[in-house]
Amino acid sequence: MQLEKTLETLAQDAVRAATGLDVPPQLRPTADPAHGDYQVNAALSLAKELKKNPREIAGTIAEELRRVPAFCRVEVAGPGFVNLTLERAWLAEQLRRDVLDLEHDGIPQLSSKERIVVDFSSPNIAKQMHVGHLRSTILGDALIRILRALGHEVTGVNHIGDWGTQYGLLLTGMREFGDAAALSESPIAELERIYKAASQRAKEDEAFAERARAELAALQAGNEENLALWRRFVDTTRAELDRVYARLGVTFDSWRGESAYNDDLPGVVERAIGSGLAREDQGAIGVFWPEIEGAPDRLKKQAEPFLIRKKDGAFLYATTDLAALFYRDSVLGADEILYVVDARQANHFEQLFALGALLGVRAKPHHISFGTILDENGKPLKTRDGVAVTLSSLLDEAVARARSRIEEGIAEGKLRLDPSAIDDVAEAVGIGAVKYADLRQNRRSDYQFDWDKMVSFQGNAGPYLQYAYARVAAIFDKAGETIREPNHELDLGEEAAFELAKTLARFGEAVEAAGRTHQPHLLTDHLFALAKAFMSFYEACPILKAEGALQKSRLTLAALTARQLERGLGLLGIRAPARM
Ligand code: ARG
Repeated sequence: MQLEKTLETLAQDAVRAATGLDVPPQLRPTADPAHGDYQVNAALSLAKELKKNPREIAGTIAEELRRVPAFCRVEVAGPGFVNLTLERAWLAEQLRRDVLDLEHDGIPQLSSKERIVVDFSSPNIAKQMHVGHLRSTILGDALIRILRALGHEVTGVNHIGDWGTQYGLLLTGMREFGDAAALSESPIAELERIYKAASQRAKEDEAFAERARAELAALQAGNEENLALWRRFVDTTRAELDRVYARLGVTFDSWRGESAYNDDLPGVVERAIGSGLAREDQGAIGVFWPEIEGAPDRLKKQAEPFLIRKKDGAFLYATTDLAALFYRDSVLGADEILYVVDARQANHFEQLFALGALLGVRAKPHHISFGTILDENGKPLKTRDGVAVTLSSLLDEAVARARSRIEEGIAEGKLRLDPSAIDDVAEAVGIGAVKYADLRQNRRSDYQFDWDKMVSFQGNAGPYLQYAYARVAAIFDKAGETIREPNHELDLGEEAAFELAKTLARFGEAVEAAGRTHQPHLLTDHLFALAKAFMSFYEACPILKAEGALQKSRLTLAALTARQLERGLGLLGIRAPARM
């Protein structure tokens, strides 16, 4: 359920009935439990508007709220707060709907479903995927899962960088000093090697550079042999990427990358010129923002144009993105398009979206921007030899560290795990830890990579939540029930049970807010709060030792906790092993 959203609606109705004004009730959790569970603060700001005493207004709002069955105590306090104490029987009844909702576990199903395209991961051929692509992959995957759970129709696209001027160098380099075996074995490393060597060579050897330009022109003109070799680059790279994605548990609905838009590019440039938005300057074509009527203010002041064709006739990253935007809008019929790309590309997307809007694109694009991953010194994360950390090496290290934590836990008697399960659980915990460390951050900020915190079984970390889940699951193992069976009446008389129930009742709005604002950390915040509330509950209210209706109620609260942890982790793309 969506506890705060429900209470907010009730409070807004009360404020309207009391004052005739439809304004946000300013509902907040109380800081001190002695004052109840929530407070409504609207009277203070309304006092100015209505030129009345705030306590008087609070009094009339309180009168309305006293008629609402959700509250057992309503009191005016201080200069004009209305303090609310939840009626536990009401909360129990509301939460029971989530208990019975085996299909969605209380995640609201939106009535306004949208068609959403999510452009994420999108690495480049012939370059190692680096940690920047890791954030895009993890964030994009979580957003897709969350948006689907809310009922949206989502298409996940890997807009892979598989076309561009570098292919002249790659084709020539491959033919002259490429290693075919290495290309099959580890294509990305080999292509990266060829690319580096070829660009170096092109600088020193004009004849080589000339051959590369000729091969590029032949490729662009559709030369069969060059196309076949280019296909091989793409396919081998794709196979290698697939292994990383499989390990991450990430899938795509489409791999429609840059090359797929190649034929559209001349038309896209024509369309921009035809509409009067783009023009020629020294042989190149671009949009010159200060000249554009209806351009956003910030861009109006931007001197650099948005280039869509170079003076040698070559198209750019921007041209392809414009073609993809048209395609997603008109062919895929997207209502919204999410571009999960790091913050450094903010200006590119700002220009792309502005131009798209001026050209009549109806779909609403959003740049789902994110910060950089920093090392312990606050510098962008690199390995010792100074190159960006590759994704696979990072995942290997995470799994190795998770494994040693697990072995420690077993030696200390804290974890119980069959030796045959260690490999699988270490993989789930290691990969889950990397994902969680990323998702728990406000995506817009840079964050510091901290191995110790990341693989910790304590605090706001993936392993802690997986461990919490396994602990609840173990109760059901002992009780001989699954976590989806208990659906008894809830008794929230005990303080710890009431606290747990209040947290459980916020799952729906946590998922809804994470999806609406594209911020998965709103969901990790909920899961962390839930795991903590459960641990306190479990200490105060033993389950298997209890009896009768009380045991059934406690068991039901534990079951809903397990279901939310399992589903919540699932929405983040994190596995929840049942035993550890
Ligand atoms: N390939 C690009 C890069 O690695 C990211 C592409 C993002 N998506 C897009 N439609 N521009 O920087």
